[in-house]
Amino acid sequence: MSIKNLLNGRFQAAMQQLEIPSECSPLLNQSNKPEFGDYQANGAMGAAKKLKTNPRELAQKILEQVDLDGIAAKTDIAGPGFINITLCNHFLAKALTEPSNQSIANPQIVVIDYSGPNLAKEMHVGHLRSTIIGDAIARILEYQGQEVIRQNHMGDWGTQFGMLIGELELQLSQGEQAELALSDLEVFYQQSKKHFDADPAFADNARANVVKLQSGDPDCLKLWQQFISVSIAHNTEIYKQLNVGLKAEHIKPESAYNKDLNTIVDDLAAQQLAVESEGAKVVFLQELADKNGDPSPMIVQKSGGGFLYATTDLAAIRYRANQLKAERILYFIDARQSLHMKQVFVTGKKAGFVADSVSLEHHAFGTMMGKDGKPFKTRTGGTVKLADLLKEAMDRAEQLVREKNNDLDDQEIKEIARKVGIGAVKYADLCKTRTNDYIFDWDSMLSFEGNTAPYLQYAYTRICSIFRKAEIKLEGFTAKINIGETQEKQLALKLLQFNDVVEQVAAECYPHTLCNYLYELSSLFMSFYEHCPILKSDVPPETAKSRLQLAATSAAILKQGLDLLGIEVMEKM
Ligand code: ARG
Repeated sequence: MSIKNLLNGRFQAAMQQLEIPSECSPLLNQSNKPEFGDYQANGAMGAAKKLKTNPRELAQKILEQVDLDGIAAKTDIAGPGFINITLCNHFLAKALTEPSNQSIANPQIVVIDYSGPNLAKEMHVGHLRSTIIGDAIARILEYQGQEVIRQNHMGDWGTQFGMLIGELELQLSQGEQAELALSDLEVFYQQSKKHFDADPAFADNARANVVKLQSGDPDCLKLWQQFISVSIAHNTEIYKQLNVGLKAEHIKPESAYNKDLNTIVDDLAAQQLAVESEGAKVVFLQELADKNGDPSPMIVQKSGGGFLYATTDLAAIRYRANQLKAERILYFIDARQSLHMKQVFVTGKKAGFVADSVSLEHHAFGTMMGKDGKPFKTRTGGTVKLADLLKEAMDRAEQLVREKNNDLDDQEIKEIARKVGIGAVKYADLCKTRTNDYIFDWDSMLSFEGNTAPYLQYAYTRICSIFRKAEIKLEGFTAKINIGETQEKQLALKLLQFNDVVEQVAAECYPHTLCNYLYELSSLFMSFYEHCPILKSDVPPETAKSRLQLAATSAAILKQGLDLLGIEVMEKM
């Protein structure tokens, strides 16, 4: 249940009875200081302004009217008319044992565009943020009961493929096996680039291949398909390692829209949205004019007839709105593509490819930086392959786990190291405010202290070990909760706020809000455990059971919350 929604409903009813206009919201929120109670209703001031009356008096009237029986232990009015509400322990205890129902009343069809690596090369760190942030949001919306459709807009159709096909053709003609030639995509890319730069005949052939490929030449398509399959297999392996829910059925690559591109441009031209400009077809957007008032140009067809990234994105957005019936379309793409996304959104709506009611959202993010404050690179300045990064994460985690533990067997250690290493990399990214750049730092992300995955995973194992010691099964444990100590109350209140946090993240798409919540929850659990003994012999059995229940619910929420971030837990570490 959501306490916030419950209180909001009660205040709305009271305000309605007092004939306060319905556009005045109770402005209900968690209090940020304990002296202001647990929740605050700050709507009296706004309402008083509208009604031209005294805010404190109005707050008093609202308080007299509102029904908080069995919910609040104490209420008071502070300052000009803030209403502070302190919840009653009994209410919290009862709410915690009621089955929680997070599913929303009106599920939406939400298309989520994330990861979208280019298939010409191996997946590198540049794809990490889109992949894990997008995946976390997909999980969160799905948990809420939204109808989520994942779309992996892979780049498989650009001009580079002419060069790569040419290289494959060449190597095969020299007797090379395709699997062998493509065993290292990075090396293969370098070889073809070298040929392209050094040999004009090779370059001409590469350019001709692009045209042949895009017009459906069967030989070219066959070579291209071989290349693409290897590259997709490589990405699938990375998704599996990352515990990311992208599957083959979510791949809707650029090439899938090839057949629509002519229609898109014709349609834009017919509506006079696209016009000829120096031989190319361009959409000029006054809506996105620069500071001199010049419209923002978006090329949709080059003078030679070729289509662009923007054309494909227009076809994709039309498909998502019309075919997939999306009501909300989310894009998790680097902030550097912000203008591109704006152009696609504005044009999509103007051209009628997307109905006005559809919410188009670009959730941008900053760059992953090295400790030197420059974009994250290898020691020699190359791009870091994702596969190498993840391997290093697991190796480092393994070392840490080995230092801490000697009673686990080798296989257990490897499994824990996998969850800790991958969890650490993902969490370090998710816990930062998405829109900022962030510094990638092995030591801080793998620390067992502070706002890190290992800290949260450790908190979970602590709870498991309490139950092991008590020789009680954690899963399915139920007992009546009694709240007496402050630490018990604070923990209970936090636990009850989980669904509000989920709702907020689902609306705003900032996963760090959930990370902060889980971190605060773990810290509250730790201090609860310190102050409120459970397994000591002088603790009355009813109290012990009630505390075990608080611990069990904490474990369940921690596990659920981490799962929404795509991070696994373990029983021991
Ligand atoms: N392939 C693109 C890149 O690597 C990302 C694709 C994002 N999705 C989209 N619909 N444009 O930059």
